[in-house]
Amino acid sequence: MIGVLVSGEGTNLQALLEAGLPVVAVASNRPDARALARAGEAGVAAASFALEDYAARSARDAAMAAWLAGRGVELVVLAGFMHLLTPAFLERFPERIVNVHPSLLPAFPGAHAVEEQLAAGVAESGATVHLVDEGVDSGPILRQERVPVVAGDTPASLHERIKQVEHRLLPEVVGELCAR
Ligand code: GRF
Repeated sequence: MIGVLVSGEGTNLQALLEAGLPVVAVASNRPDARALARAGEAGVAAASFALEDYAARSARDAAMAAWLAGRGVELVVLAGFMHLLTPAFLERFPERIVNVHPSLLPAFPGAHAVEEQLAAGVAESGATVHLVDEGVDSGPILRQERVPVVAGDTPASLHERIKQVEHRLLPEVVGELCAR
């Protein structure tokens, strides 16, 4: 059973749901994330774990991990989750946390990958699904696919083209991990 961590729009969460994958819980660091509303609309348990409600990041992560584990989650997908996870969370799901990122990692990690690729003038971008460790988008890569950059691209137009690939790649890889 799958738990998904989100912070924003939730289009990758939507892709996982539409693929029929067993998503049983969705957690966000932001109570106003559109992704939480998507979970609610799909009838999936959803909860917010805002950092300011906890004494330390590790306490927040431990609470979030316990909430997911209590719902039977065995595989965690970061789908636009914008915080680094501490060992309090990582050690609860060893080798069972994946992230999707809008670049050909290890190039352009971090929160501004799309803008930075355009600023660098790259000819192609991509989408990467990788295992999560304590670093910034640094765990072992599971799958990557190239995405062209076209003349006149803005961060929004390039990100949208990348997301179209993410929405296919992420459910594929997660489905394969579920089968293991
Ligand atoms: C995606 O581009 C993902 O690669 C990155 O954040 C974005 C999340 O989009 N980590 P959404 O919330 O799934 O629409």
